[in-house]
Amino acid sequence: MWNTPIDLPVKTRKAVIDLLQHRLADSLDLWSQAKHAHWNIKGSNFIALHELFDQVAGEADDWGDLIAERLVQLGGTADGTLRRAAKRTQLAEFPEVDSQAKMVEALSHAMANFGSLIRESVDKADALGDKGTADLFTEVSRGIDKLVWFVAAHLHCD
Ligand SMILES: [Fe+2]
Repeated sequence: MWNTPIDLPVKTRKAVIDLLQHRLADSLDLWSQAKHAHWNIKGSNFIALHELFDQVAGEADDWGDLIAERLVQLGGTADGTLRRAAKRTQLAEFPEVDSQAKMVEALSHAMANFGSLIRESVDKADALGDKGTADLFTEVSRGIDKLVWFVAAHLHCD
């Protein structure tokens, strides 16, 4: 760990860095899953979903950046490569899908799973005594919940 003038205790910083490291891996995984869906979506809603999935990827990229930079501010080293993220991510692998509905369902499931891990992390960061990180996760939590709504609304077509 690197030294920093930030006055959070070393024990707190270590635990929060570990938490951030996990959510960074999830963010990078979500980014790649949204890109995968963006590239492979087919069907009547193609252009809307193609663009929406790219918006999800863009937001996941921004969240990963916020998380990684907070981690470094606290004295950590961000494990930012795809290979390192792949070892640590808690998201499931994107399934093989053969329809537009299944693609939407698979991505909304991954997004909701990410949202759940982020929500848990708000409480964990708060319990560790780092309200700054808890606030960062809260911001991400609001963002992913909104995008889950955008994507999952396509599943209600009746
Ligand atoms: Fe593209």
